[in-house]
Amino acid sequence: MQVEIARDVKLGKIDHLFVLLAEGKLDVEAPEGVAAAIADAKFEGRGDESLTVLAKTPRKITLIGLGKQEALTHRGMRAAVTAAGRIAKKLRDAKIALLFPYTLPNLTDDQTALAVADALAQSDYKYDAYITVKKEQKRIPITATVIAPNANAKTLDATAKAMARAVITVRDLANEPANLLTPTRLANRAKEVCDEIGVKCTIYGRREIERMKMGGLLAVNRGSVEEPRFVVMEYAPRKAKTHVALVGKGITFDSGGISIKPAEKMEEMKFDMCGAAAVIGIMEAAARLQLPVKLTGIFASTDNLPSGSAYKPGEIITMMNGKTVEIVNTDAEGRMILGDALHYASKLEPDHLIDYATLTGACVVALGSEAAGLFSNNDELARKLIESGERTGDRVWRLPAWDEYKDLIRSEWADMKNSGGRWAGAITAAVFLKEFVDCPSWAHLDIAGNAYAESETPREARGATAAGVRVTIDFLQSLSQ
Ligand code: BES
Ligand code: MN
Ligand code: ZN
Repeated sequence: MQVEIARDVKLGKIDHLFVLLAEGKLDVEAPEGVAAAIADAKFEGRGDESLTVLAKTPRKITLIGLGKQEALTHRGMRAAVTAAGRIAKKLRDAKIALLFPYTLPNLTDDQTALAVADALAQSDYKYDAYITVKKEQKRIPITATVIAPNANAKTLDATAKAMARAVITVRDLANEPANLLTPTRLANRAKEVCDEIGVKCTIYGRREIERMKMGGLLAVNRGSVEEPRFVVMEYAPRKAKTHVALVGKGITFDSGGISIKPAEKMEEMKFDMCGAAAVIGIMEAAARLQLPVKLTGIFASTDNLPSGSAYKPGEIITMMNGKTVEIVNTDAEGRMILGDALHYASKLEPDHLIDYATLTGACVVALGSEAAGLFSNNDELARKLIESGERTGDRVWRLPAWDEYKDLIRSEWADMKNSGGRWAGAITAAVFLKEFVDCPSWAHLDIAGNAYAESETPREARGATAAGVRVTIDFLQSLSQ
């Protein structure tokens, strides 16, 4: 839904007001009639409580319990805000307002308002572009106001709107099926987004990719009838002092190739381009917010399919940076395309280099969907990204990328092999990537858990690689402060 953040709202123009209340903390600052309605309702604010009362202005007021204030978390807030959004959708309210009269732990009032607006904006998201027989009645577009009495509403409002749009761009791209979202189409979508926000976008096709000797990307692409794409987006505001390069994995479908995956859940491998989608979303939000940081957004894209021409176990591939890789598993394709993209990005000599990839099932085994895996060669950058994760509620958790792990990908035939097997699967993937990075401030985010999570958590994680967008925009903002 469309959200705005404002210091107050004309209650007469609202169909439905939602007030989120914590246990024992009911004497919040609320508009006149509303405070009386709260007092009359005998509402306690327990986590499992919600109550809709009929009032004068507005006609409907719904109280939603948050549980104990001391135990209030980002996740708890998201659950309650999402519940509010869903009620509004069910009741077919056109205009709603929401009051969250607390501050989340370790956040400022402004940051809290942004997090609330983000949760509300996504609360009615549904990817139904290809459902021709709609079960529901035609949806009413909802506009929502987050009431933030103490916030710096003007700038916050712009940030909330830019974030909401970028997150939806990412989720829509992620959810689009692989027959429609081919590498060509993904690149064209990136260009469309860039045109809208005044960002330069260059699309390289097979010939140029061959000329640049991107051996990893070309090897993975050999099994496909779809052409590969390599995309470079450039946002260069005049005042920028820092240059950040972003790299995304854009596998539009990952069957595993010759080392084919089991059939079960293979359909979810359409999400394997979530890293590329995150990079597009970050460019979109950053440009809309006119962040004073130079950004180069890069992604490599192909699908990974078996065929007579597909790359095979035992092959030795020469990457763009000249290093050789023995293929032992064609399903470890993400690192092959990222190796080339990271080398390309390193040559631009950015101050920071961050990549986003649905890289390993091992990372999902380790962290589930609660956090993305973080790997970095720079403690300072890692710390900042962890802090941004805590602030935005999209956590990242650091795992080591020590050189000792290189033992696991040592090859008898080439400089390295592309898989180290089951042990430390997320780490060996990161250590592989590190061989292609030439930048003292690099971070790799394994976002596989965020992208594929099945949970019906408030985050509605399916295709929600928006995680990378939230963390990175917060990080970029902290750079420019
Ligand atoms: N795209 C997958 C990673 C993945 C798996 C993401 C499951 C989300 C859920 C990646 O290309 C892959 O297949 N990785 C292999 C690596 C292995 C062959 C070394 C994996 O994780 O099993
Ligand atoms: Mn794979
Ligand atoms: Zn993959």
